[in-house]
Amino acid sequence: MRKSFLLLLIALPSLLFARIDNERFHALYFLDGEMEGGSPVNNPTPRQPKGPFYPHEFPDDTDADLTILDGAEEMAEGKVIYLQGHVLDVYGNPLENARVEIWQAAKSGKYNHPNDPNTAPLDPHFQYYGDVKTNEHGFYMFKTIVPGAYPASQNWWRPPHIHFLVQHEGHRSVITQLYFKDHLLNEEDLILRRLSPENQEALTVDFPEVTLETGETINLGTFNIILGASN
Ligand SMILES: [Fe+2]
Repeated sequence: MRKSFLLLLIALPSLLFARIDNERFHALYFLDGEMEGGSPVNNPTPRQPKGPFYPHEFPDDTDADLTILDGAEEMAEGKVIYLQGHVLDVYGNPLENARVEIWQAAKSGKYNHPNDPNTAPLDPHFQYYGDVKTNEHGFYMFKTIVPGAYPASQNWWRPPHIHFLVQHEGHRSVITQLYFKDHLLNEEDLILRRLSPENQEALTVDFPEVTLETGETINLGTFNIILGASN
């Protein structure tokens, strides 16, 4: 992992807690400890199909920065985004040590998977997959790029999306997909449209520009993931 990104990972959570105006997050976070034995405050994150492109073979580099491979000089193509959030139970309690895996297409829309029929080119500098654990606040973060749309059939283009698998002992795992707010293909996507409008919104994330204390401006999306209890 590059040093600059490591420093950002350490610095961002405290900066972001203070700076990001995310009512849903604050509502959940500050309920921590107050809702023991009470009613659930939030529904588990809606589920979505796993799809056919979960890694067939895992790459050597699976860290939180998908934009550069270990030891590489060149970065992946595409618009860089930061993706952060908390893994929480339905009462808003943070889940430490939850495993958060993501996988996605490159800027071209191509997955690094032998079964992907897409003729778009692979990006040899992109990591395609990341695997992290949440900290004691249930916090996770990735640095990645906006994936491309890709054809799922003759008349259906899947909108840009990031696949998630989130697991925590004692809770029900969730497989889902994150979508990008206001992307036109969202409205016609057969998989996203299976969900109620409320659940579609829960999986659709905005990536506004955020200026850090260093003066650097990044695009940062917040995606909190809520796990139900295991049966
Ligand atoms: Fe996909």
